[in-house]
Amino acid sequence: MRIPGFTSTRSKRPEALFGSVGDVPMRLVRADGCRLWDEGGREYLDTVMALGAVGLGYAHPAVTEAAERAMRDGGVGSLAPVAEAMLAEELCFVMPGAERVLFFKTGAEAVAAAVRLARAYTGRERVLTCGYHGWHDWCQHGLGVPAAVRSLRTEIPFNDVAALRGIATGDSLPAAIVVEPVIEVAPDPVWLRAVRDVATRCGAVLVLDEIKTAFRIALGGAAERWEVEPDLMVLGKAMANGFPLAAVCGHRDLMETATRTWISSTLATEWVSLAAALAVLDIYRRERVCDHLEAAGTVLLAGLERLAPAFPKAVRGVRGMPQMCYLTFSREEVSAAVAVAAARHGLLFKRNAYNFVSLAHTDDVVIDVVRRLEAALTEVERTC
Ligand SMILES: Cc1ncc(COP(=O)(O)O)c(C=O)c1O
Repeated sequence: MRIPGFTSTRSKRPEALFGSVGDVPMRLVRADGCRLWDEGGREYLDTVMALGAVGLGYAHPAVTEAAERAMRDGGVGSLAPVAEAMLAEELCFVMPGAERVLFFKTGAEAVAAAVRLARAYTGRERVLTCGYHGWHDWCQHGLGVPAAVRSLRTEIPFNDVAALRGIATGDSLPAAIVVEPVIEVAPDPVWLRAVRDVATRCGAVLVLDEIKTAFRIALGGAAERWEVEPDLMVLGKAMANGFPLAAVCGHRDLMETATRTWISSTLATEWVSLAAALAVLDIYRRERVCDHLEAAGTVLLAGLERLAPAFPKAVRGVRGMPQMCYLTFSREEVSAAVAVAAARHGLLFKRNAYNFVSLAHTDDVVIDVVRRLEAALTEVERTC
């Protein structure tokens, strides 16, 4: 095996998805709509959706066509592309508070850039975080992360208004409060507004990490849905329907700080992903994609809520919201057994946060997903 730990995307390891290696789907060769095919030619319905990177379904024809056209036009060049300016214009039109945009290739890179901007703008170093923001040093504490970097970050609890009291006072005020707006459940809007207030009061930059939530719970993510205006918003995943693209957008003054520090990446301006994202935005607006995700997700969530009490030994409960939901299980081994059994029934189902629907998930597909999951749960419940 030439790849340490099997794959460069750790959440796609067989151990992560199925708790085991062996008689489970390991590597894919094709994806289309809401279906996947593994190297053995087996077909699966999918609710993992590339870890939320795809909202329109795999290989959406209009996105594929836009990307193919961009590839035939060379894909990359020695000057900034027109598509970059076009997409920035479009995003400023739809993202709350956006006046300027910078593009990146990954979500982790984009959130790291937002934090750099906040530090450069405020002249402060401390950062408060809530949620997952990628693998970069500034927000990790594992092996290889310098203690000095770790000491600059404090985690704050999700949805806890009382815990906000006193967090942004004293000598060492934060440069940024970086928040993932949905963590396992929808946020209490009172909490979101309280986070906004704390950031304003102490002069910190409020960064909403909307990598999973924009282009999903609303086009403009939690900021649009719960009317909380961030100073910076981070986009990724579904924005280019699986093509590698992320972005930071926000107020002009703050974003222009980028010209006073060094933030730059050679392939941030390849135009295949930019063209894909322009096509994605067009489809989201024309086909009211977020309404579809809410409707299809509601059918899925209702299915999970019906199944949960029917399998009391295996299932603890249901978490999430229609667009991003999952079951909790009585034990880790049970969650793994359910994922393995679901795959045997032709379903890739995430055993923890989150399962996602896409535009390709019609009601009939979602009903089929629930039926296959029920078959898997029936097998596992017998062995619990
Ligand atoms: C909220 C959030 N922020 C940041 C990231 C990191 O994005 P990427 O894996 O594209 O670097 C993720 C990825 O799951 C995410 O969900």
